[in-house]
Amino acid sequence: MGNHPRRHQAGIDAAIQTYYGEVFDEDARLTTRSAQGRLEFERTQEIVRTATPAPARLLDVGGGTGVHAAALARAGYEVTLIDPVASQVKTAEKYGTFETLVGDARTLDFPDDSFDAVLLAGPLYHLVGRTDRIRALSEARRVCRPGGFVHAAAIPRFSAIAVAILPWKALNPAPDAVLDLIRRGDPAAGRFPAGHFHTSEELHEELVAAELSNVSVVGLEGPAGLALETVTKVSEEDFQAAKRLAVLFQDSSQIRDLSCHVLGTGQV
Ligand SMILES: C[S@@+](CC[C@H](N)C(=O)[O-])C[C@H]1O[C@@H](n2cnc3c(N)ncnc32)[C@H](O)[C@@H]1O
Repeated sequence: MGNHPRRHQAGIDAAIQTYYGEVFDEDARLTTRSAQGRLEFERTQEIVRTATPAPARLLDVGGGTGVHAAALARAGYEVTLIDPVASQVKTAEKYGTFETLVGDARTLDFPDDSFDAVLLAGPLYHLVGRTDRIRALSEARRVCRPGGFVHAAAIPRFSAIAVAILPWKALNPAPDAVLDLIRRGDPAAGRFPAGHFHTSEELHEELVAAELSNVSVVGLEGPAGLALETVTKVSEEDFQAAKRLAVLFQDSSQIRDLSCHVLGTGQV
């Protein structure tokens, strides 16, 4: 059982254009769609800002419609956003507070040492092949100055399994898809044009393979993140409790993979 042929990157790249360009409202994801989005947003911002305090030059690769970039620009960073989906870049451009470009994580059109930190919150789980993921991470390292930080988000396959199995009907007709997800990180076919779901150990290894140093991988949303995904709002008290849990268990090798996202950080 399992071992379906992998999807081709060209097909995923084409689907990304349609999905983010026409189907999905990425702008709402971190803001109004679910309580998980706010937790993901705040945790990512805090980690990036703590590692590299403003003012600093930041590159947001796969920055989508600019939710992170706009907040970072407000906080005093000089931000450049790139994303392959032109319509999202156009939406980001409307903030008028940071530079925006259409581009791909695998080939960054910037000289070496152009930035103090680079954030990739998106590209890695859309790249099916390890070679492409290492290329994206290596490009981030190249454009970041020595001593600067590269932060890269991944979707853990173990929380993705929970999402796939929770509506119970998903398991019965498609055990092969669940097996391929557990064994190889192959996302089950669906609307979301995903290429690869990680384990946190695997993300750690990829950051090291891209020649980054002092690598760490933390869970972003923690043990309550999946529950927050099912509601649009929770009380402030519950939100802060979920956030405390996320921080408390961010390094736990047993729990971080239950997060909806993990964030790897390495130093140039
Ligand atoms: C889930 S969205 C995340 C957007 C934003 N960074 C955030 O955190 O809300 C994933 C983003 O990755 C972008 N992306 C997909 N493949 C990419 C690639 N090869 N290079 C750069 N960005 C890519 C998509 O266009 C999309 O905007």
